[in-house]
Amino acid sequence: MPTIVEAIDLKKTYMLGKVPVEALRGVNLKVETGDFVSILGPSGSGKSTMLNLIGALDKPTSGTMLIDGVDISKLNDNQLADLRRRIGFVFQFFNLIPRLTAKDNVELPMAIAEMNKAERTKRAVELLETVGLKDRINHKPAELSGGQQQRVAIARALANNPKFLLLDEPTGNIDSKTASEVITLIKNLNIEHNVSIIMVTHDQHLAREAKRTLQMFDGEIVSEVVNQ
Ligand SMILES: Nc1ncnc2c1ncn2[C@@H]1O[C@H](COP(=O)(O)OP(=O)(O)OP(=O)(O)O)[C@@H](O)[C@H]1O
Ligand SMILES: [Mg+2]
Repeated sequence: MPTIVEAIDLKKTYMLGKVPVEALRGVNLKVETGDFVSILGPSGSGKSTMLNLIGALDKPTSGTMLIDGVDISKLNDNQLADLRRRIGFVFQFFNLIPRLTAKDNVELPMAIAEMNKAERTKRAVELLETVGLKDRINHKPAELSGGQQQRVAIARALANNPKFLLLDEPTGNIDSKTASEVITLIKNLNIEHNVSIIMVTHDQHLAREAKRTLQMFDGEIVSEVVNQ
């Protein structure tokens, strides 16, 4: 399988006033197409920092981030914007637009990518069907449960046919029963639709659902487990 994400000796140091905070201390990571990687680690260990670098939302202090073999530090602003549109993000707090229906939330990234209206509506409905929300397409976020909102966020992340999906604590704000529905969906996207997935979580059980689990500690990947 081709490598879609490769991090080489990635370091990130934030400056808090004059105090340096070493969030990543030399991370190496390789993710192949079709992989499902979970990243486990205590609060402050650098998980979100790592995800933001993989998603080209932030720049490393040193080291190299390759997406599809391209060193993203070599891209100009337009190329970076194009790349970001091809990466699916799912955040802990869903980040749905409250005024928009589920369908319109899913359509939004396609509208930004200038897909025509009829086509994007069709795709939004299909995606909402994929995530099991066919009968909720005209509901606004406040009219949906937490798990349903998270599934809309996942459908939206898939809208522009992303190279891979990045999930930061996708079940951090939903109860455990709803969380198991969301993880079933995520696994299904990986197995049935071959979506490549990198998922950050605090939750051991959730992490074990991935094909492999990386353990982060204090800005480093300290171990890797291949799950059964
Ligand atoms: N913008 C910033 N400025 C300064 N320090 C930061 C900044 N963002 C993160 N940090 C620090 O970098 C370290 C790693 O943060 P990060 O958000 O990656 O942790 P995390 O593993 O995602 O934690 P959590 O599980 O709580 O979300 C932490 O010590 C944090 O305080
Ligand atoms: Mg985090």
